[in-house]
Amino acid sequence: MGTRKARRLAKRDLLIAEGGNVTKVISCVNLKGGVGKTALAVNFAAYCGGQGKRTLLVDLDPQTNATFSCIKPELWESHSNKHGSVADILGVRNHVRSDTEEVDPQKVVIRNVFENVDLIPSHLDLFTIDLDIGGAVAREGLLSRALEDVIKEYDVVVCDCPPNLTLPTQNALAMSTHFVVPVSPDFLSSLGIALLLRRISKLGRDLRVELKNAGILLSRVGRRSYFREQTTQSIREAFGDDVLETEITERSVVAEAAARNVPIFSMGNAQATAEFQSAGREIMERVMKP
Ligand SMILES: Nc1ncnc2c1ncn2[C@@H]1O[C@H](COP(=O)(O)OP(=O)(O)O)[C@@H](O)[C@H]1O
Ligand SMILES: [Mg+2]
Repeated sequence: MGTRKARRLAKRDLLIAEGGNVTKVISCVNLKGGVGKTALAVNFAAYCGGQGKRTLLVDLDPQTNATFSCIKPELWESHSNKHGSVADILGVRNHVRSDTEEVDPQKVVIRNVFENVDLIPSHLDLFTIDLDIGGAVAREGLLSRALEDVIKEYDVVVCDCPPNLTLPTQNALAMSTHFVVPVSPDFLSSLGIALLLRRISKLGRDLRVELKNAGILLSRVGRRSYFREQTTQSIREAFGDDVLETEITERSVVAEAAARNVPIFSMGNAQATAEFQSAGREIMERVMKP
């Protein structure tokens, strides 16, 4: 271990000993798909990395969108075949090898996908998690137990969750300090927010973790229309300060960045950059609040 890293870890151990919760773990959740969870998780991780924070992005969605927003399928395939993915960490049966090998969580991490950002990739195998580990003891804590030593190395961990509250999301929340909820300002999406927040609170109580809301983010906001403005207004009225001031506009450059495996900040689009920076700043402010 390099002396700089050793010194940083020693400093962290001291902070932990003093009762400080140094690693902030933020899960990106919503029961709906297509609301911008992955775009936020990936670009928020990139934002934190850009701020000099050691950041780990954990992809917990079997659709592997966060993974493929950072790395090429070829690298994912060779890496996950050799070192495993989040599915192996969670003890999901390997459907190619038809067995389950213990993996070394340190080796599952793909280093430096973006500046200061490492990635734990996902795998399609995660689709069968409920069948494979449904009967496992203390199954909601599998990830947090497996990654205990890994996350100590990071200032920020960002979990990209699937659009449900089943085992992968439960595992993410069980190791989280905070959650963020990207929402689309459409009528049907807005109906689900209160239900989701209640469910997350209940999960937090059941899992005995203190989960703080780091913000509801209006995402993929489309062209101005009277109806949309009304929906946005009613979400802001209903959830008050929980809603971030920043709104993320619908722009094709967001999808393009994902396709090119780069953060939005590398796309030369000043408006999109400003919005994701402002969202990142707001989330970090809430996360760092004592
Ligand atoms: N602000 C945005 N503008 C345009 N396209 C976006 C934006 N945010 C996300 N997308 C695209 O919309 C699709 C769904 O977004 P994604 O972040 O994957 O949502 P989720 O993770 O909630 O399912 C993806 O193709 C993504 O690239
Ligand atoms: Mg997603």
